Amino acid sequence: MVQETVHLLDGNSISERLRTDIGAAVLRLKNTGIVPGLATVLVGDNPASASYIRSKQRACADLGINPVDVTLPADIAQSALLDELAALNERPDVHGVLVQQPLPRHIDVEAVVEAVSPEKDVDGFHPVNLGRMVRGRRCFLPCTPFGVQKILEFAGISVAGRHVVIVGRSLLVGKPLATMLLEKSSTANATVTVCHSGTRELGEITRSADILVAAIGQPGFISADMVCDGAVVVDVGINRVDDSSRKRGYRIVGDVDFAAVSERCSAITPVPGGVGPMTVTMLLYNTVQSARGMRSQDALGDDA
Ligand SMILES: NC(=O)c1ccc[n+]([C@@H]2O[C@H](COP(=O)([O-])OP(=O)(O)OC[C@H]3O[C@@H](n4cnc5c(N)ncnc54)[C@H](OP(=O)(O)O)[C@@H]3O)[C@@H](O)[C@H]2O)c1
Repeated sequence: MVQETVHLLDGNSISERLRTDIGAAVLRLKNTGIVPGLATVLVGDNPASASYIRSKQRACADLGINPVDVTLPADIAQSALLDELAALNERPDVHGVLVQQPLPRHIDVEAVVEAVSPEKDVDGFHPVNLGRMVRGRRCFLPCTPFGVQKILEFAGISVAGRHVVIVGRSLLVGKPLATMLLEKSSTANATVTVCHSGTRELGEITRSADILVAAIGQPGFISADMVCDGAVVVDVGINRVDDSSRKRGYRIVGDVDFAAVSERCSAITPVPGGVGPMTVTMLLYNTVQSARGMRSQDALGDDA
């Protein structure tokens, strides 16, 4: 059965709505004398990383969050980097600390992740926050899975009691998303299956999904025959494919064959314009929540 009208889950417009609320929360905080601050730490001069940092800083500035730029040389010693993070942990004007990855090879990534105070870990990568999440306690939720959850919530798509299949088990996306959607709460309570490169009969499992999330890193991997009629499809993938018709020589595509899959699903996130914009928005959300002394799960209310 071909779906007559596929619902586009527009991450840009959901982001806009959320950013309006975040901006209002920033204003309320400013009225109490608190200016939320996000420190972005860039080690080296990787152009892609520098560009991500710039867009995060612009997004901060747009909402009145103070971006604190920390750019460090690629050959910085591990101990010096940890000292920089310790100093940011102490600064009262910094409520969130984001260390852009990848880091140079001589840096121990785990040590860096653990050096950011869990109270300022607005990326939600610190083991304390991940541990709190697994225990169902308040914490900073990792921004990409948090963005996926918000897209579904804003679109009025309940996951409760439904079968969510996630393809991809990374610490960045698949694993935390599975944990979040499994939570026994009104906004979660899904039945979750997580697939990976060792999964057998993948298509059989993905076809059993009410909600299918692709976080694989392979362009167009999810084909129409892997999706059941009427499913909801969330495409986390961001992949560059060569395209000589574009000025820059490439275009961005997701992990889902959008044209074919949108013929049979009931709702789908586009790439670009789906999960991507939500990731930065949830980073801003977590930063403001940190400045309020709150966590991801708390409402962005007017009690700042
Ligand atoms: N929208 C955003 O803001 C955002 C944020 C983060 C990532 N992304 C994008 O999301 C995608 C995934 O990112 P990631 O960091 O999670 O990637 P990752 O760490 O490389 O993980 C990819 C996952 O996909 C699984 N996989 C790979 N090939 C497979 C196959 N043939 N069949 C089944 N599973 C397979 C891997 O299985 P194994 O574990 O067995 O290797 C792994 O669990 C990328 O395109 C990335 O750019 C987007």
